[in-house]
Amino acid sequence: MPDCAGHAPWPPRGVAGRGSVGAKEHPELSTPAKDLRAWTTRDSVELYQLAAWGGESYAIDDRGDLLVQPMGPSGPRFSLPELVEDLRNRGIELPMLLRISDILEMRVKALAGTFANAIRETDYKGRYRPVFPIKVNQQRDVVEELVDFGRDHALGLEAGSKPELLVVLAHMNNPEGLVVCNGYKDVNYIETAMLAQKMGLYTIIVVDRFEELETVIEVSKRFDLRPHIGVRAKLASRGAGKWQESGGDKSKFGLTAGELIDVVERLREVDMLDCLELLHFHIGSQITAIRAIKDALKEATRIFAELHDLGAGLKFLDVGGGLAVDYDGSQTNFHSSANYSLQEYANDVVFAVQQACDEKSIAHPDIISESGRALTAHHAILVFDVLGVAQQQFGVPKGAEDYEEGTIANLVMTLRSVSQKNFQESYHDMLQLKEEAISLFNLGYLDLKGRAIAEALVWAICERIHQICQSLDYVPEELQGLERALADTYYCNFSVFQSAPDHWAVKQLFPTMPIHRLNERPTRRAILADLTCDSDGKVDKFIDLRDVKSVLEVHPITPGKPYYMGMFLVGAYQEILGDLHNLFGDTNAIHVSMDEQHGYRIERVIEGDSVTEVLSYVQYDKQELIRRVRGRLEQALRDGRVNMRESALLMRRYEEGLAAYTYLVDDDAVLAKDEDVVQQGVAAAVPAAAERVRGSSGI
Ligand SMILES: Cc1ncc(COP(=O)(O)O)c(C=O)c1O
Repeated sequence: MPDCAGHAPWPPRGVAGRGSVGAKEHPELSTPAKDLRAWTTRDSVELYQLAAWGGESYAIDDRGDLLVQPMGPSGPRFSLPELVEDLRNRGIELPMLLRISDILEMRVKALAGTFANAIRETDYKGRYRPVFPIKVNQQRDVVEELVDFGRDHALGLEAGSKPELLVVLAHMNNPEGLVVCNGYKDVNYIETAMLAQKMGLYTIIVVDRFEELETVIEVSKRFDLRPHIGVRAKLASRGAGKWQESGGDKSKFGLTAGELIDVVERLREVDMLDCLELLHFHIGSQITAIRAIKDALKEATRIFAELHDLGAGLKFLDVGGGLAVDYDGSQTNFHSSANYSLQEYANDVVFAVQQACDEKSIAHPDIISESGRALTAHHAILVFDVLGVAQQQFGVPKGAEDYEEGTIANLVMTLRSVSQKNFQESYHDMLQLKEEAISLFNLGYLDLKGRAIAEALVWAICERIHQICQSLDYVPEELQGLERALADTYYCNFSVFQSAPDHWAVKQLFPTMPIHRLNERPTRRAILADLTCDSDGKVDKFIDLRDVKSVLEVHPITPGKPYYMGMFLVGAYQEILGDLHNLFGDTNAIHVSMDEQHGYRIERVIEGDSVTEVLSYVQYDKQELIRRVRGRLEQALRDGRVNMRESALLMRRYEEGLAAYTYLVDDDAVLAKDEDVVQQGVAAAVPAAAERVRGSSGI
């Protein structure tokens, strides 16, 4: 029974399979009286906040399909559900991660463009040089495309570890692009970075920990090379948002003021002070408040000027990452938003550096930003389908009228009398009667059938009260959880842990919505449950301009027809942080680019993990698994526990299962194949099995 303060314990839910809805809809829920006018695509644009988080990159056509249009309404566009159908017809299964190259390109242009504007307007003398930190998305295609799209903007790459350095060295083929080497460094890392400098790359080794300096000096002497050295400052300023611990006195990386002076002294001693070319800071990712950025800039530019005065040959100021993405479109300092625009960020950075340098008559350095999230988040969309729905049943349950007195009769009376005037009182009565019903059941005075009727009545009362709440300007606090408690559960074909781990780990919000039927009123309210058997494997927080929604407006699913949903802005961090919980592997990934003639062009399909691949990560060998199961089946055949047909079907299923995608495929298609499988399976598999059984000396 629902308890608004917490979870709903034993809700009477009907679970329906893919493409079917098990419970009948409550008429009032599907067409609230206050909202009888026809639903338009414009209502969907508003409901799902399309423009707020997607700018002009998305629109909805008259058929209710979501359109992708990276260059805005005047550029090429395509229907997202059509692309998904097209891919499915080619045998590419859901869930699928779509990477839209043109959105990536637009992001590079937008970032470089805003800095170009700021530089032009302030007459800044240095350049802006974006550097992509590949930790944010190391996928080869993404890195290659970014280097390509950033060729005219001197886009460089940042490595935060030794493996990342090896990728960066091979892929940085733009002579203008810098290679920034961050993270924990051993001799091997530093040697590799310096030799790459000899190879012709502009590698800057950023000293994150004071101990690294001696290795840098030693290796440079050994290789007879004047390295490009950077230092990361540990700022007192902190970021704002979930990752604010990356900054401040206790941050993991960075040198204190004292250590910075020691670096200068030591480099002077070895006559390498001119090699100290870059000052770097990073106060955390997704900095939601511009104030925190301004504070950090003030402090960092002061350090820059001081180091310059001490004789360092500084040429670059690297402002790190942190440029936030407005996931919920609210333009606030909420953790999934940002209270500033790209242009404001660029203006503030350029202005702060210029001001600090002009005050001391220092030449303007080139400005580097290591913006990762802001470059890649937008370009990736996860598309998945809904497999089934668990839906609340409302109304007076059968048998309730048979109780003439007592708790159940009182619940029926409460249900009948709920009104605008007494809904809160009815709620309190219901809570008391609910407790009574549980006590009676525990003491043996109410049977299981009676308890089921009591539960159903409790839900029905809650639903009536919720209907009334929907027309109120203010919903009493104790009733605010009703919407969540009454919501449907839509079971979806994806894993939160694999595809949106930050939603689980740090409550990051990602815009999520149906991608078709957007010309229909979404009459259901749902939370999205994933395929894992983990109770955390769900999406139950959704973007909202003023708040966080606990349910998402969705359409009732139509029997036999797919219902597609999209989760947007998942191109930063999610893929690489994703894990194999319940052995759900990488999803299929498809690179798509815009095409003037056909709307889209499928550039590349990267198949997701098969079950065999995922099992090999945890040391299971396919052949060994098959051998074991075959052995047990032979024994079962000998014992007469299975027949030949069943044995063949299981073996076929097992081998197919190992070769298959880790996510769910269409049940209907599988069932349709069953007869086929049995027939072929008996023909193909039984003779071999029968042979072995006949000569059964052992398996
Ligand atoms: C040193 C460094 N630079 C850049 C970034 C990228 O940050 P963002 O994705 O917020 O731009 C990070 C990530 O936290 C980082 O640690």
